Amino acid sequence: MEITEFQTFFARLRSTALAEWGAALAAATAARVNTGAHGDLARWELALAALPMIAPDTIALNCASVGCQPAQPLAPDLAQRLHDTLQRLHPWRKGPFSIHGVDIDTEWRSDWKWERLANAIAPLSGRLVLDVGCGNGYHGWRMLGADAALVLGIDPTLLFVMQFLAINRYLQRDELAVLPLALEDLPPLLTGFDTVFSMGVLYHRRSPLDHLDALRRLLRPGGELVLETLVIDGDAQQALVPPGRYAGMRNVWFIPSVAALILWLTRCGFQRVQVVDVSRTTVDEQRTTAWMRFQSLADQLDPTDGRRTCEGLPAPLRAIIIAERVN
Ligand SMILES: C[S@@+](CC[C@H](N)C(=O)[O-])C[C@H]1O[C@@H](n2cnc3c(N)ncnc32)[C@H](O)[C@@H]1O
Repeated sequence: MEITEFQTFFARLRSTALAEWGAALAAATAARVNTGAHGDLARWELALAALPMIAPDTIALNCASVGCQPAQPLAPDLAQRLHDTLQRLHPWRKGPFSIHGVDIDTEWRSDWKWERLANAIAPLSGRLVLDVGCGNGYHGWRMLGADAALVLGIDPTLLFVMQFLAINRYLQRDELAVLPLALEDLPPLLTGFDTVFSMGVLYHRRSPLDHLDALRRLLRPGGELVLETLVIDGDAQQALVPPGRYAGMRNVWFIPSVAALILWLTRCGFQRVQVVDVSRTTVDEQRTTAWMRFQSLADQLDPTDGRRTCEGLPAPLRAIIIAERVN
């Protein structure tokens, strides 16, 4: 992975109100690119280099399956080469995407999450957006489809950054990037985003209140946080700390009740806290597919009681909450 992959994004960022942060963000990205060795990186880089060049005729960002179509259907051998090369970036967790007729049926129907929040959040048109823990950038594309001016996605998992680069080989946009950064890698005083998304990240944090505080500082006063996380039923003083794994995941620390989450947000300097949605995650929304061949949610639930995980804990229930940074 080369820092040059992100140059057009940094050029775009320098034309926005975030311009002063361009150099520090580029330095943080370069540091990560230079030290972020991963055993599979060379293999993924070969896959990226092997992607066939195909100019898109139409690009679709504002629909469930993000992607592009060619003017004419691809010749079968070219379609097969595209399919096989994209498969080399397995596992594809967030999507779906459709690239020149190749449908990437990802583990998650991430479009369902988007549908739950799209009409409830402040309109993204013209806004500067940060998506913390954005995965391969699926929701970032939907944010561009909703006319955001700039979307900075960050995710420390290099495979997801490679998947973003693969999709962007075809969509060729410079208002969105997935940078290989964790939240902790961002410049310490970075601020000024109109909207900050943190979806599917809070429960991975050992210190969830520090996470909320960091998100608040990244927003401009009056800016909007869109928070999505696992929750349990319960009152404002209840949060589950799994004794070990949760639904097979090793790194789950705090799963609060919705009432506790509202309290935490208020204590951390947010106002106008609104619960947008609470939904149980189903095995139709998160499942094994041809593009994510490992185990998925169905394998992590109690086979005799779908309301429990295989560890005997409450099955995944997720809330979406929006809140405004206090001035
Ligand atoms: C459950 S996924 C959620 C992806 C996406 N936001 C969504 O809602 O579909 C959590 C993501 O957070 C990323 N992540 C983990 N620790 C992080 C950190 N410290 N800073 C930023 N992202 C992190 C992981 O790599 C992973 O892609």
